[in-house]
Amino acid sequence: MSLDTPLRLGVAGLGTVGAGVLKIVRRHGDLLAARAGRPVEVVAVSARSRGKDRGVPIDAFAWEDDPVALARRDDIDVFVELMGGTDGPAKAATEAAIAAGKDVVTANKAMLAIHGQALAEAAEAGGRVLRFEAGVAGGIPVVKALTEGLAGNEISRVMGVMNGTCNYILTRMESGHLNYQEVFSEAEKLGYLEADPTLDVGGIDAAHKLTLLASIAFGTRIDFSAVVIEGIERITIEDIEQAADMGYRIKLLGVAEMTGRGLETRMTPCLVPMTSPLGQLENATNMVVLEGDAVGQVVLRGAGAGEGPTASAVMSDIVDIARGTRVATFGRPAAALVAAKAARTTTPAPYYLRLELKDRPGALAKVAAVLGEAGISIDRMRQYGHEDTAAPVLIVTHRTGRDAVDAALAALPATAVVLAEPVAIRIENV
Ligand code: NAP
Ligand code: HSE
Repeated sequence: MSLDTPLRLGVAGLGTVGAGVLKIVRRHGDLLAARAGRPVEVVAVSARSRGKDRGVPIDAFAWEDDPVALARRDDIDVFVELMGGTDGPAKAATEAAIAAGKDVVTANKAMLAIHGQALAEAAEAGGRVLRFEAGVAGGIPVVKALTEGLAGNEISRVMGVMNGTCNYILTRMESGHLNYQEVFSEAEKLGYLEADPTLDVGGIDAAHKLTLLASIAFGTRIDFSAVVIEGIERITIEDIEQAADMGYRIKLLGVAEMTGRGLETRMTPCLVPMTSPLGQLENATNMVVLEGDAVGQVVLRGAGAGEGPTASAVMSDIVDIARGTRVATFGRPAAALVAAKAARTTTPAPYYLRLELKDRPGALAKVAAVLGEAGISIDRMRQYGHEDTAAPVLIVTHRTGRDAVDAALAALPATAVVLAEPVAIRIENV
């Protein structure tokens, strides 16, 4: 492909992200050509409904009802997959594009978290690139930062808030003194939630993103099944306000870390210090923290979703391809990624426990005994004033393993003093 001929795109999916990409190509044609050294043009598009208003003209482009047919067209160089979905048309069309010798750009973290290994191997075997900057943390150029900017570092830890919807829900609950269900409905009305909201609030979408970053950071094969995932559905306004009272904020935090016990990847609600950069993160913003042996800590913050930010990330991959920059999907050949041993236990940490106890003599002593038997030492404890017979008790433990916390939680019902299901949230040192 000569560098003075246009780079021809076939765009499948004209929703939030796809329309955003068409708008940038239209608005910034000259800028893109200047930066890439050649024009970038959309040749053909596909979506479900041809007649739908996309907020940008599409009449000049060839139309394909079938994204697989689009992927195979002779007159495109790059197939841009912006439909979404783990399998179905997104995977079929991506495979078809690779088989037809096209480069592929996608924003589809759900597909890559499950099929990324095979798709990247297939692309690289055919001398093609498969790029996914928009798949992780929207407009934040974190894939580029890891694969290119920090290529000289041994990465020790990657962590961050990678789901804007969850961060919106958690911060809005606190600012509006609202319960989870109220803010969930608000997020729904604002159009923040994925078609299947459990992908967001169940931590799955963010875990998809984390597993992709872990592969780049540690050179390991994609293993989504190894991620420990817990959503935010059980977080209450009481948890948020009581955590704040102790100087913490609750975040759905992803951590990928290579430990002596293997690769630890978890996406769970955590308490982080209110004064830390992660603790200060408001609304739907994302933040990714990268730690390398030479660079130290790098913090990236920005919009994790939405038309402009996500299309901006898609364009970064497209411009790279137009320039002739060919970086492997996970920063090294996919076939050279090694199978990671998944850590069976998580690194010990302090935990926040919220309990509702029967207000009667000896109740607290019984709980303390259960914790002691599980090998858990109490650091701080607080009981709030209450009018009924249920006493809200907060405990912050010293560093302990999650196994010990689970053992204590399992033993608590036998004390017959615990009224509601206890909540245990890890306190992360960030
Ligand atoms: P969206 O608004 O729902 O758009 C999906 C598009 O795909 C629609 O244009 C739809 O056509 C088209 N489509 C669906 N099935 C199709 C099929 N079988 N054949 C042809 N076209 C089909 O989704 P989106 O928010 O733009 O997300 C697209 C991708 O980007 C997803 O992988 C998502 O996870 C990822 N992503 C999105 C964001 C974000 O902020 N939205 C951020 C990061 C990553 P119709 O319009 O005709 O129905
Ligand atoms: N549902 C995702 C979020 C969209 O809330 O962050 C971006 O991947």
